[in-house]
Order: sequence, then structure tokens, then C-alpha cells
Amino acid sequence: MIGILCAMREELEPVLEKVEVTEIIEYARNRFYKAKFQNKNLILAYSKIGKVNSATTATIMIEKFGAKKILFSGVAGAIDSDLKIGDLIIATKTTQHDVDLRVFGYEPGYIPESRVFFDCDKKLNDIAKKVANKMGIKLKEGIIASGDQFIHSKEKKEWIRKTFGASAIDMEGGAVGCVTWIFDVPFFMLRAISDTAEEGAGVDFDKFLEESSEVSAKFLIQMLKEINE
Ligand code: ADE
Repeated sequence: MIGILCAMREELEPVLEKVEVTEIIEYARNRFYKAKFQNKNLILAYSKIGKVNSATTATIMIEKFGAKKILFSGVAGAIDSDLKIGDLIIATKTTQHDVDLRVFGYEPGYIPESRVFFDCDKKLNDIAKKVANKMGIKLKEGIIASGDQFIHSKEKKEWIRKTFGASAIDMEGGAVGCVTWIFDVPFFMLRAISDTAEEGAGVDFDKFLEESSEVSAKFLIQMLKEINE
């Protein structure tokens, strides 16, 4: 069983259109879609925005539906200046930029007995790079930092870049990374850029959410062809 997770309805819909949904299960104030793609069994859902929602949905996919991998598809704000709206990035690792226990001497993002960075699966990332090559599209790799805030400030974005070495920002990757680390399940994080996380990012996000979600979904489907359950 492969888990496909998004944060928002707009991110999941273009994925759902491309698979064969066989069953819809209402559970935990959410809707889970069992589906088939080329004989592979999938469980799909959008969690709703944010770290708690995405961590909960990832946990349900793993514990209730038996997902053996979690693939995330959606949109992100760009930190690196070479990332333009519509460009794709995969995470090498994810982190939580809003975790702050510095008053106790810990580095930003660190929770005792946990970690700052959660590694994404190298094999899945290698498949993504192969697929991008075949499709002739640019695919960036970098750290994605997450927090329960929509970032729309140059200053905050710079702080996240400087502190975590992040290339892009979202509101879920660090949480799903933590869950998949806890359960030792391979995690793949794919995002298409919807905005530059600076002043005015909210306007761009609304404008490009659907378009960039489609870019991410299309790529994910190409990748699925190369992945075993
Ligand atoms: N997802 C897409 N754009 C974002 C931003 N600017 N901040 C946080 N999450 C995002």
C-alpha cells in the first residue's frame, strides 16, 4: 500500500483524477480514498493545512491503512532564488522551523529525543531524478522547512534559510517527516512552487495553487509508474 498525502483539496484533486478510486472511507473527520494505479494499491487523502493535521493523516495512513511509503504532493513557497513559480523541488530532508526550545540551550528545530532534520528516502529521490531526466524537466533537491505559518516576509524567509539551510517552505513536511521517522516508513516530499514567501505571497498562492498542484500531481503520477508497493 502506497500512501499519497496532500494538505489541500486543490492539491489532491489532480492526483485523484489520474487514479482509479475503488472505495471512499470516512474516518477521523476526513475522507480516505482507496485507489488503484497500474495494479498498485494506493491510499490517498488530503489532511487539511498544517503540521497537526498532516501528522495525524500520515499516522492513520500508516497505522490503519498499512501504508508502506508516504509520498507527499503539493505546493511550496520558494526560498532559493533559482526556484520560480511552477518549478519542482524534492526534499532531501524536512524540518520544523517553528520549533523553538532555544531558552533551554537547544538549537532551533530540536526537540529532545527527536531530531532537527528528518531524512527523505534516497531511493525514491533517485527515482524522481531519473523520471525528471526522462521527462526533460528541471527538478531541484533541497531542505524543506515547515511551520504552522504561511510565510510572506522576506525577513522571516531569510531567517529560515540562514538557520536551516532550507530551499523551500511549507506547512507539513517537517511533521510528516517526523511521523515517518517514528514509524520507519520511507518518505518522499514533492512540491511545486506557488509563491516566493515574500510580501504578496498570499496573492500568488491563490493565483498559482491549482496550476502548481497540477504540476506536482503530474510528476507524482509519472513517478508512481516506477515505484513498487
Ligand atoms: N506553502 C506554499 N507557500 C507557502 C508559504 N509561503 N509559506 C508556508 N507554506 C507555504
